Amino acid sequence: MPDPSNAALTVAVTGASGALGQALLRRWHRRGARLIALCHGCAPLELAGPDGQPIPLRQVQWQVGQEAALESLLEEVDVLVINHGINVHGDAGAAATGRSLEVNALSAWRLLELFAVVAARRGETRLDGGRRPEVWVNTSEAEIQPALSPLYEISKRLLGQLLSLRAPELAQALRLRRLVLGPFRSALNPIGVMGADWVAGQILRQADWDWGLIIVTPNPLTYVLMPLATLTRWAYYGLLRRP
Ligand SMILES: NC(=O)c1ccc[n+]([C@@H]2O[C@H](COP(=O)([O-])OP(=O)(O)OC[C@H]3O[C@@H](n4cnc5c(N)ncnc54)[C@H](OP(=O)(O)O)[C@@H]3O)[C@@H](O)[C@H]2O)c1
Repeated sequence: MPDPSNAALTVAVTGASGALGQALLRRWHRRGARLIALCHGCAPLELAGPDGQPIPLRQVQWQVGQEAALESLLEEVDVLVINHGINVHGDAGAAATGRSLEVNALSAWRLLELFAVVAARRGETRLDGGRRPEVWVNTSEAEIQPALSPLYEISKRLLGQLLSLRAPELAQALRLRRLVLGPFRSALNPIGVMGADWVAGQILRQADWDWGLIIVTPNPLTYVLMPLATLTRWAYYGLLRRP
């Protein structure tokens, strides 16, 4: 049964054809949301629900570096899940460095800023004072833990820190949720211990509790270190930020 509170929502997910992207789309479908799958590839994305019926979704192609082209689409989005990512593992060459920073950190940051501008504009014209659009940023446990992949860690840490730095301003227009996930099985991490569908279920459950910091991992240290890291950044950036 679709959850009536989510029935009217339009949800867009980047990295939609990946393991977590598909799992999140399926979960949102069960809640009755309208789905937009943002894919960088052109292969058609076909998802089936538990009854085997195809899940209706709108697939939109986008490219890192061309985030601005999504501006008009974002006008209709209520929840944007920034979920795309790559892992170049041990490759530390110049090309891998550029790609990791662009895909994992900078494109996500540009989408975030663009969505905040769009949301602020919508807020000015919103008469009902209704809910702010939401953005969910999938930074990963690699924000604070080793991931055995230097460029993955560096790029995810950069994204996490940019999110912390920009949060006070962005939060005026957007409800921000940070997804800090431990290892789950996917093309990016074939030996992850959790299943993407289970992780997606936990993410939605914590979002239902209205948590801004959503942590899903078997590693107990992350539940201690991640809140501490966000609190420390909030205090440090807060001290240095000019009014
Ligand atoms: N698996 C883990 O253990 C783990 C743990 C913590 C966090 N995460 C994070 O969770 C997110 C989803 O990862 P996943 O594990 O589901 O991996 P995945 O199955 O490999 O999905 C990642 C998706 O990102 C998109 N992508 C890849 N290269 C891209 C590029 N150059 N430009 C734009 N999009 C690109 C692709 O989707 P499209 O073709 O649809 O664009 C790809 O399917 C990532 O941000 C990852 O860092 C994963």
